[in-house]
Amino acid sequence: MLLAVYLDQPPPARTGGFGEQTCQECHWGTLNDPAGSLTLEGLPKSYAPAHEYSLKVTVQHPDLRRGGFQLSARDSRTGEQAGLLRPLNESVEILKESNSHLEYAIHTRKATRPSAAHTVSWSLIWEAPPASQPVAFHLAANAANDDDSPLGDSIYTLIIVKSAIE
Ligand code: HEC
Repeated sequence: MLLAVYLDQPPPARTGGFGEQTCQECHWGTLNDPAGSLTLEGLPKSYAPAHEYSLKVTVQHPDLRRGGFQLSARDSRTGEQAGLLRPLNESVEILKESNSHLEYAIHTRKATRPSAAHTVSWSLIWEAPPASQPVAFHLAANAANDDDSPLGDSIYTLIIVKSAIE
């Protein structure tokens, strides 16, 4: 089956930000079902330029058996890459778009299984940009039921905008 090429990782540019699609392009199910949640922890109220932050992405849903996510950090005005993304451990890898220099953090295949009941988390580092700029974090996640079909998954999206410390 042709679609099997996507089994290992979702394609980049599916965060829902700046006109992008989300995981819903291929996974059909509810959007932002209140029975579950998508959270991003580790960002301060305002960031310090060039400082490194450890971020944790968590998705949970009562029907979750596998999970995945995608995250980008871009200038909220221009859509250009803001700062740098790095994995903190083997749960995350970074896809880099060669022409746009955009970075997309995504789950690795081995990090799609729940770590706690109905919950998957991933850890990464965001190195803030050296100069002050408003940064939009766009996230999309899939709380999947692991039935090897695109049906019945729960897709979540999240947008967080941060500015630098004055
Ligand atoms: C271009 C199509 C496509 C897009 C876009 C896509 N996926 Fe998938 N994904 C698939 C296919 C095909 C499978 C394997 C069949 C299945 O299980 O649904 C899959 C499977 C998965 C699985 C394994 C769990 C399961 O149900 O088998 C996870 C986790 C996952 N995708 C996460 C994501 C996330 C997160 C996004 C958005 C950031 C995303 N996918 C976007 C096509 C896609």
